[in-house]
Amino acid sequence: MASEATKRLIVVSNRLPYVLDRQAADKWVLKPGSGGLVTALLPVLRKRGGIWIGWSGATEAIPDLDNMFGKASDEAGYVLKPVSLTKEEVDRYYHGYSNESVWPLFHDLLSECVFDPEYWDAYVKVNRRFAEVLAADCDDDDFVWIHDYQLMDVAHHMRDMCRSTTLAYFLHIPFPSPDIFMKLPERNAVLTSLLAYDLVGFQTRRDRRNFIQCVRMLVQNTSVRPEGHLHVIRSDDHETFVGNFPIGIDADSFAASAIEPEVEERVAMIRSRYADRQIVLGLDRLDYTKGIPERLRAFANLLERFPEVRGRIHLFQVVVPSREEIPKYEELRVEIERLVGNINGRYAEVGWVPVHYFYRSLPSVELLAIYRASSIALITPLKDGMNLVAKEFCACSPDEDSVLILSQFAGAAAQLGRAALVVNPYDVEQTADAIYNAFRMTQSERRYRMRKLRRNIRTQNVFWWVDSFMRAAFKELRDFPMLEEYIPEHYEHR
Ligand code: UDP
Ligand code: G6P
Repeated sequence: MASEATKRLIVVSNRLPYVLDRQAADKWVLKPGSGGLVTALLPVLRKRGGIWIGWSGATEAIPDLDNMFGKASDEAGYVLKPVSLTKEEVDRYYHGYSNESVWPLFHDLLSECVFDPEYWDAYVKVNRRFAEVLAADCDDDDFVWIHDYQLMDVAHHMRDMCRSTTLAYFLHIPFPSPDIFMKLPERNAVLTSLLAYDLVGFQTRRDRRNFIQCVRMLVQNTSVRPEGHLHVIRSDDHETFVGNFPIGIDADSFAASAIEPEVEERVAMIRSRYADRQIVLGLDRLDYTKGIPERLRAFANLLERFPEVRGRIHLFQVVVPSREEIPKYEELRVEIERLVGNINGRYAEVGWVPVHYFYRSLPSVELLAIYRASSIALITPLKDGMNLVAKEFCACSPDEDSVLILSQFAGAAAQLGRAALVVNPYDVEQTADAIYNAFRMTQSERRYRMRKLRRNIRTQNVFWWVDSFMRAAFKELRDFPMLEEYIPEHYEHR
């Protein structure tokens, strides 16, 4: 039997780190995927090797598929195993149940939810397909780690196939309170599916607590007991360990890349062009959970109430295209573009345009240069599992001379709330005040805060996250790290 530290790692997620992109009628290329899950798992697979199972990103048969992923696997140093889905499956399982039912509900945005029984049927069917691909590839000795809200039902199908492999699961997004979760038509089935895993990990204590409360309220014949820093839920004859494990980034790698000559050159260019002006950065996938319209309104409020900042500050808002086939996302893009137009129309002066808007994904050098050249990061999601952009911004601030403004509803606030300026993203005046305070903050305070943030991000990095999670999976509970969380509600700074 393999020792626990050397077990082969099999990761299963909806997305692979590459997605197929059609360049011409019969020409497909693999492009890097976007989003926090891919960013977090990439360094883990690179370091440990293993297998990564996920959807290819296409909905039709592609003749060269195996060859393309084979080549990408050779270059990556781990095996990429694509799962094929039809257009109808993608519509109902991915756009439908995952992104129109679970995603908005778990982010407390009930008004954005669409519930449709056909979505759930497709979700179960596709989760079964993932389980079949996994079962064909894994041994009982492997460490199987399944990720995120698209795949809550995989363990249940593995158990149906009588597979006794240890199955661990991590939810990258928040888990809602019982009041909200109760609205999900398939609420019992979802909880039962999650209880088929051996370990279920959440980002924060709040998410773990919500899950346990939902189980207590909705699933009969269960008992919950604490064990070390985890909880154990017993249902029928199965035990599920539950814990919170805040995800991190490969901070050293971000820090090193941010000072590479190519990035330095780009940073110098941006700084010379925007000399004597501060750049406030907003950087998000296009998503209504990210609070982009509220942020734009807060920026307009700043310009209105503090006219002395006009001409001396810019908001750079980068929006990475995402889930473009879902109508709510398209509506959001239109709303953002309207707001940007309104603000620029109202406040622009000759030689100064307040909001610079980029609707595209950024190449890595450009991303790192923008992180470095910005004085303030404005990370104001209405709700977010973690928010890795907040951590990347700090990791890419080698001069420690920048300020993080962070929503109290981002999972990251539990770790970074003491040194960031924490805001309620719905409160545009409070957010505007925070930008103003950051704009005027003394260099010594900026440095003091950023040093603390960077220390946390370097210590609780992505490898620490994997290590904590795996130790919990292998029941090494005695030395499991105690997590001290910061409670953002206690932090008011106006
Ligand atoms: N990102 C990206 N492409 C870009 C810009 C950013 O893939 O053009 C990455 C960014 O570096 C970060 C991730 O997307 O790692 C976003 O993660 P986050 O947790 O902030 O939000 P999510 O998109 O997962 O909701
Ligand atoms: C978030 C989710 C991930 C997802 C990513 C990008 O990070 O937690 O599961 O992969 O967004 O979204 P997409 O729908 O393009 O995969």
